[in-house]
Amino acid sequence: VAMQLLDGPKTNVFHYEARLLKGSDSNLSEIQGSYLGPIIRVKHGQKIRVIFKNNLPRESIIHWHGLHIPPEMDGHPMHAVDNGEQYVYEFTVVDRPGTYWFHPHPDKITGPQVYRGLAGLFIIEDERKSLPSGDQDQPLVIQDRSFNSDNQLVYVEGSPMQRMQGFLGNQIFINGKKELTQNVKKGTYRLRILNGSNARIYKLAWSDGSDLKVIATDGGLLEKPLNKPYLILAPGERVEIWKDFSATNSGEEITLESLAFSSGTSMGRMGSGGMMGNMGGGMMGGNASFENGEAMHLYTFNVTGEEGKSLGIPQTLSEIEEIDPVNAVNYDTPKQFHFYHERMNWVINGETFDMEEVADWEKVKLNTTEVWQFINGDDGSGMGMMQDMMQLPHPAHIHGLQFQIIERDISGMDAEVWNSVKDGFINQGWQDTFLLMPGMKVKVVMRFRDFTGKYIYHCHNLEHEDMGMMRNYEVL
Ligand code: C2O
Ligand code: CU
Ligand code: CU
Repeated sequence: VAMQLLDGPKTNVFHYEARLLKGSDSNLSEIQGSYLGPIIRVKHGQKIRVIFKNNLPRESIIHWHGLHIPPEMDGHPMHAVDNGEQYVYEFTVVDRPGTYWFHPHPDKITGPQVYRGLAGLFIIEDERKSLPSGDQDQPLVIQDRSFNSDNQLVYVEGSPMQRMQGFLGNQIFINGKKELTQNVKKGTYRLRILNGSNARIYKLAWSDGSDLKVIATDGGLLEKPLNKPYLILAPGERVEIWKDFSATNSGEEITLESLAFSSGTSMGRMGSGGMMGNMGGGMMGGNASFENGEAMHLYTFNVTGEEGKSLGIPQTLSEIEEIDPVNAVNYDTPKQFHFYHERMNWVINGETFDMEEVADWEKVKLNTTEVWQFINGDDGSGMGMMQDMMQLPHPAHIHGLQFQIIERDISGMDAEVWNSVKDGFINQGWQDTFLLMPGMKVKVVMRFRDFTGKYIYHCHNLEHEDMGMMRNYEVL
């Protein structure tokens, strides 16, 4: 990736090749020893140019996850370029300051490309002095991977088990590295957490039992901080956490954990004894950890004696203009999107991805507000033959905009599953991805502005996406 700022204070050209950054500038930085791409730092209002050169053996394209940019800049799979070709991005950063990211988006092979390291953070900086900065403002990209006995990444493209559940690794990587500890100063930190995993969902909690103080979601700062005993973070989602180590004794360790939870996974008719029963651990290796909801240690902070900067948490973080759903053109009849499994495929309203196709229910008008309801489960119209009771959580993601969550209906959920996750959801703020647990129904409201054309929405379990659990929507 070569990046160039067209406006603003910096006008140098940077080259990012083979994961080595040549040249230096505050707009691109590399995490030492990481397999991830660079961290791109920009400011609201800047116009940037990014040249993506594809040196991979297969086609690829970069998507800017969470950004409101024209469809040609969004990394739709139809824009994928082959080996040796390039794609030039040019857009103005109009989104709120916050933690966004970029990753490949070619049809059917997004999962393996992200898994092998192609992802990076895209941070829109804010100028607030009341928030931690410098090395006390830091990313935490959480991913899971598996290695075989030759220390090579395990990823079986097309493996049936992986297609069903998505890739679930047995080893955690933070910021593209396997060291899971870090020294911190006695001071206040802003942790920008991205779940960059293909399919693993985390139930984040502090080992010292303190609440997670949430200051931002996908689309930037919340209005005010939110205290959570734990947080459910699905693939694609970001959350920013305020953590104060000022009063912690030097030498103490505090770990970010992922607690056990019940994911509601059900293999339905293909369950034990059936097809899935025959595909168990053996084919993926015996030591594998292939369940969503297993407890894991993620990352440990060792508090040193070094004094850092201490800050009090601001009680007002930002202003959020609420979209009034009553103004939606379809307030009384929200569009419904059923995510379920049918005939060996993950589908949305019975359909899978087609590069060009846009159904009537996927067309929206520019400058209108709409309410969409996402439902994990079929629409009940099947005759019981095609729909097979197989259920998994799906992280739903819409390209090209940020939306607001207006309703999370849990009446169709299993009580035990809900009880294990119920305090972990955030309905506040701007979001672009949310977790749809089995039986859950979530309503979001959004405005279609500025650009017409085709964008996509999909399940951010990348193996599900690759199987076609993705569709176009078109702004007309
Ligand atoms: Cu991270 Cu199509 O998305
Ligand atoms: Cu996206
Ligand atoms: Cu899914």
